[in-house]
Amino acid sequence: MPFYSEKVLNHFKNPRNVGEIENADGVGEVGNPVCGDIMSFYIKIAPDGKTIQDIKFKTMGCGAAIAVSSIVSEMAKGKTIEEAIKITNALVAQELGGLPPNKMHCSNLGADALHKAIEDYLRKKVSGLDK
Ligand code: FES
Repeated sequence: MPFYSEKVLNHFKNPRNVGEIENADGVGEVGNPVCGDIMSFYIKIAPDGKTIQDIKFKTMGCGAAIAVSSIVSEMAKGKTIEEAIKITNALVAQELGGLPPNKMHCSNLGADALHKAIEDYLRKKVSGLDK
């Protein structure tokens, strides 16, 4: 597979932070209607109310989508919500050493799912459902 970077292959073969967080503070799920792949992120926020203490993902999708989920989880873990919101799809692809053009849509799912999980947490917090 010469068109995948070493980093993509590494994260695909050995994905980090796979799984689900029970009673997660925020959950975000996105899917791509064309390929049918689905990515879900679960985040746990530290007692300070602003740091992503733990993050896990479940992805039903292609190898690139799994590598993207894994790298996003590493990029976001330990970051503040403010920092994590700044993780863009382009940054994710860059962090992976690039993706083939026909696989760029896979990297788009990563930051979107993370941002949705953060939005979910913020929404619950505003409505007091995080208690
Ligand atoms: Fe759809 Fe990769 S082929 S996310």
